[in-house]
Amino acid sequence: MKVLDSDKDKIILEVADISEITEAEKNSFNWPASVPKLVVKLGGGERDEEKIIGARVFENCKIRIIYGAPKDGIGLSGGVNDFPELTVSKIADKTELVEFYLKTQKKHFNDVWAAETSGAPQLSPAVLAEKLSVENAICLEIKGVRVGFVALVDWVNWFGVPSSLVSWIWIDGELRPEVRKAVHQKIIRWLRERTAEKLSCVVDVFNVRSRRFFKKIGFIPECLIVSRKQLH
Ligand SMILES: CC(C)(COP(=O)(O)OP(=O)(O)OC[C@H]1O[C@@H](n2cnc3c(N)ncnc32)[C@H](O)[C@@H]1OP(=O)(O)O)[C@@H](O)C(=O)NCCC(=O)NCCS
Repeated sequence: MKVLDSDKDKIILEVADISEITEAEKNSFNWPASVPKLVVKLGGGERDEEKIIGARVFENCKIRIIYGAPKDGIGLSGGVNDFPELTVSKIADKTELVEFYLKTQKKHFNDVWAAETSGAPQLSPAVLAEKLSVENAICLEIKGVRVGFVALVDWVNWFGVPSSLVSWIWIDGELRPEVRKAVHQKIIRWLRERTAEKLSCVVDVFNVRSRRFFKKIGFIPECLIVSRKQLH
């Protein structure tokens, strides 16, 4: 385990192997109470975030996982599902875009995970209005009814690597499996057409369905953001 950098907000660590995160390390590693979070870069070959999340050193911590993928590296096995009623559209009006983003995030994330998220949106309307662009967000529609939404923002990580970050994604939980797969395929195709070479997303550890979704389409865990529960 190597400390790469630190400031008053975070300590950035690199771990090459899960065996580095042990009780012994916990005892010898100094994480001052005044520093709210650890950024743990997963180096080397260990990419099984389950093992790392389960490490006792992270008990009583809130963990978010950053996944990444080269845009050409994402995809789904099996053929392309043909579902002609499914279309991709844009929300041309920025105010409506921000409203739809926040409305779906509240309903399908903040309210669902109220105990973990305190029900508050991650980004304010003002920040979203600045970061979102009409070109970088799509709706999936069936006969004019929205059944999915994806919004990307530009992001440069702590190591200077730029990417298109999936800032918010929602797919209607009621869709039949074959329609859902067609939605996934449309989203993947759109993501692959983006200009940034790299894609990223940040997923809370408790959101297992989302983690499985991103891993299924080719994202791999790159980093953990760890914060003490009592501080947040
Ligand atoms: C996250 C989300 C976009 C994933 O899309 P999706 O179409 O639901 O993805 P899938 O149905 O393929 O589910 C992914 C995997 O999780 C599994 N899964 C389904 N429900 C689950 C649950 N309650 N817990 C754990 N895994 C679950 C699925 O079986 C699937 O695995 P499989 O492909 O091996 O069968 C969608 O569920 C969603 O909009 N969730 C609410 C909003 C949200 O959390 N957004 C992400 C914020 S980071």
